[in-house]
Amino acid sequence: MDIYIWVKAFHIIAVIAWMAGMLYLPRLFVYHCAAEKGSVQSETFKLMERRLLRAIINPAMIVTWALGLWLAWMGPDSRFGWFASGWLQAKFALVLVLSAVHGLFARWVKAFATDQNRHSQRFYRIINEVPTLLLIAIVILVVVKPF
Ligand code: HEM
Repeated sequence: MDIYIWVKAFHIIAVIAWMAGMLYLPRLFVYHCAAEKGSVQSETFKLMERRLLRAIINPAMIVTWALGLWLAWMGPDSRFGWFASGWLQAKFALVLVLSAVHGLFARWVKAFATDQNRHSQRFYRIINEVPTLLLIAIVILVVVKPF
């Protein structure tokens, strides 16, 4: 049994769960902006945001990181694994940016939970595109390995 392909399969499964949440959460923020503070709708969005973050996005990020790093150490270079490759270094930088965006999302979930959101609907619509662009760049780097 080749452990590498099994780790890769579960890495991809975790990536899908993480990205599903990272693409959906800012959509919820967009709709939440339109809901009146204290309304039933607003309270429902709070619950959805908290559950999505805690049950899906946070654990999926941890599993993606753990399995990704494991794969990286199992790479072809006997000392540095895939870390010796340019594509992984670039991917690593973009994943750090994605993780920082994740941190911002967590902060905004907290702000909404206490009715202290300070951003507009338009702001969240624009932010919504950031995980998409990072996802495209990361997948091209890891599949095409251009350098
Ligand atoms: C957390 C840091 C991460 C590290 C260290 C990492 C590292 C790796 C490594 C070493 C591979 C194996 C490449 C190969 O066998 O050719 C891999 C596969 C893959 N990673 Fe990651 N990864 C990380 C996060 C991510 C993220 C955030 C995404 C997507 C948004 C992603 C998407 C993929 C995909 C689609 C593959 C399969 C590529 C293929 O088999 O051709 N990874 N990752």
